[in-house]
Amino acid sequence: MSSTNDFKAVRKAVFPVAGLGTRFLPATKVMPKELLPLHDRPVIQHAVEEARAAGIEEFIFVTTPRKELLTKHFTPQPHLEKMLEDVQNCEIPKDKLFETYQQDPLGLGHAVWCAKDLVGDEPFAVLLPDDVFIAEQNCLSQMMEAYETHGGNIVAAMDVSKEDTARYGILDIKSDNGKIVEIKNMVEKPGPEKTPSNTAIIGRYILQPTVFDHLATFDKGAGGEIQLTDAMARLIGNQPFHGLRFDGTRYDCGTRLGYIEANIAFGLQDPDMNKDIRKILEKYNANA
Ligand code: G1P
Repeated sequence: MSSTNDFKAVRKAVFPVAGLGTRFLPATKVMPKELLPLHDRPVIQHAVEEARAAGIEEFIFVTTPRKELLTKHFTPQPHLEKMLEDVQNCEIPKDKLFETYQQDPLGLGHAVWCAKDLVGDEPFAVLLPDDVFIAEQNCLSQMMEAYETHGGNIVAAMDVSKEDTARYGILDIKSDNGKIVEIKNMVEKPGPEKTPSNTAIIGRYILQPTVFDHLATFDKGAGGEIQLTDAMARLIGNQPFHGLRFDGTRYDCGTRLGYIEANIAFGLQDPDMNKDIRKILEKYNANA
């Protein structure tokens, strides 16, 4: 199997953040969804820190002019810097932070395509900030290790219930050792009737730049949107393509319920809050 670019290091990450956040209205009327706090920092910062810890050097935000606050969060705010080390920790150096606009919400595939010129001809990561993880080793780092072994393209994978296959890209599996899944096809949001498996794609990807050639056809898929899953499916057979069942728990901050659950889970991780949160949960449980 040909595998051009397989072992070039992954230095750049794309963050598709142009979405309108309609599920969270009115909270997101002027506030970007990705700046809503999860525990002690904005949701997006969890993904950025994950990428940085996994070795990512350049950060590409596919955003819209309405969401200028989002990248501002990662630029220096001198009046705060002396007060709080944490504020400095969330900064991305000016020459490593890139922004491009997705003018129309045409789908995830289109958002990633918008980063084409900034990524150039090298492998890159995509992180969907709605997906956050509690894991001993962060999800993208686990994928970087799998990439060193297998090269090509890697997606994060997780088993879901059959009913939930309508919410995810789903893998059609060629071989499976429980952790690494060799992929023979993938389909976006097939639903329980048509699904080839119950192994879903979660929002972390390591991709070869040839995916941009397939995105550039702008073919519409599920929901009338330009789907990343469809473009990735076209790479299979020409390049290695694997799913990694990551270790850890994933939370979906893209739904109201998932966002509340994530706040509870991250709060419970915090030794200063754990006891009090448990007490609160007990109180509500007792009154249920
Ligand atoms: C996107 C992708 C889907 C993937 C999911 C993971 O869907 O299109 O393939 O399974 O993220 O969170 P969305 O959640 O944007 O509908």
